[in-house]
Amino acid sequence: MPPRRVLIAGNWKMNGLRSALGEIEAIAAGYDDALKARADLLVCPPATLLIPAGERLAGSGVLLGGQNCHPSPGGAHTGGISAEMLQDAGACAVIVGHSERRTNLSESDAVVMAKVKAAWCRGLLPLVCVGETAEERDAGAAVEVVTRQVRQSVPDGCTAANMVIAYEPVWAIGTGRTPTPEDVAQIHGTIRRILKERFGAEADGMRILYGGSVKPDNAAVLLAVPDVDGALVGGASLKASDFLAIARATP
Ligand code: 13P
Repeated sequence: MPPRRVLIAGNWKMNGLRSALGEIEAIAAGYDDALKARADLLVCPPATLLIPAGERLAGSGVLLGGQNCHPSPGGAHTGGISAEMLQDAGACAVIVGHSERRTNLSESDAVVMAKVKAAWCRGLLPLVCVGETAEERDAGAAVEVVTRQVRQSVPDGCTAANMVIAYEPVWAIGTGRTPTPEDVAQIHGTIRRILKERFGAEADGMRILYGGSVKPDNAAVLLAVPDVDGALVGGASLKASDFLAIARATP
C-alpha cells in the first residue's frame, strides 16, 4: 500500500459570492510544484459557485467538490442537488454527513450512507464527516459516538480510492477550540481500527482528515498527529493565503 497522500480540503459552507472567486484563483495560483509534491487540495464552494470556481481551477490540479448531495439520483426534491449535478458542474468529490446537516437537518447515519452510495454512482469521492458533541465528549462517549457513526454511515465496498473520513468534533467547529493531539490521535486510531476490521489492508490507504478550527498556526501540530492524513478546513479556507499556509504545514 503506498503511503497516504495528504488531503487539505476547504469547506466554504454557506459563504461566497462571485466576488470571492478571486480567492479561488489565488488558491489555484498558489498550488505550486512544491505544494503539489506534498498534498492534494480540494475546494468545496457553495453550489452556486461550482461552475465558475471550476473554470478558475482548470489546469491547476486543485480539486473541486460539493458540500452535500441528495441520496436520490434525481426527481421531485425541491432544492436538492444530485451527485450527477455535482459531477456535471465539474466536482469530483462531495462532503456528506457534516455535523451542521446532521444537527440542523436531522440527517441520520442511514441517510448519510445513502448519500455515499449516490456519490459513488457518479464516481464522486465522498468525505464522510463524523464527530461528537461537547455533551457527548463530557459524558466520556466520544469514542462510542464516532464508532457508531463510522459503522453506520460508511457502506460496504470502501477502498482507499473511494472513501475519505473526516473527524470533526462538533464543539471544535468554528469555536477556535481544538482537541489535544492525544485526543485526536485516540479518535483517528479508533477510526482506523474500525476501517481495518471491515476493509482489511485497504484501510491502511484510506485518508482520515481532522476538521474543527484548523488554522495556519495550529495546522502543523494537528497534521503531525498519527493517522491524521489531512484537514477539512472551514473558516480559514475562505482566505487563499490561510488555506495555502495550512497546506504548507503538511509535515
Ligand atoms: P472551522 O474550520 O471553521 O472550524 O470549520 C470546520 C468545518 O466544519 C469544516 O467542515
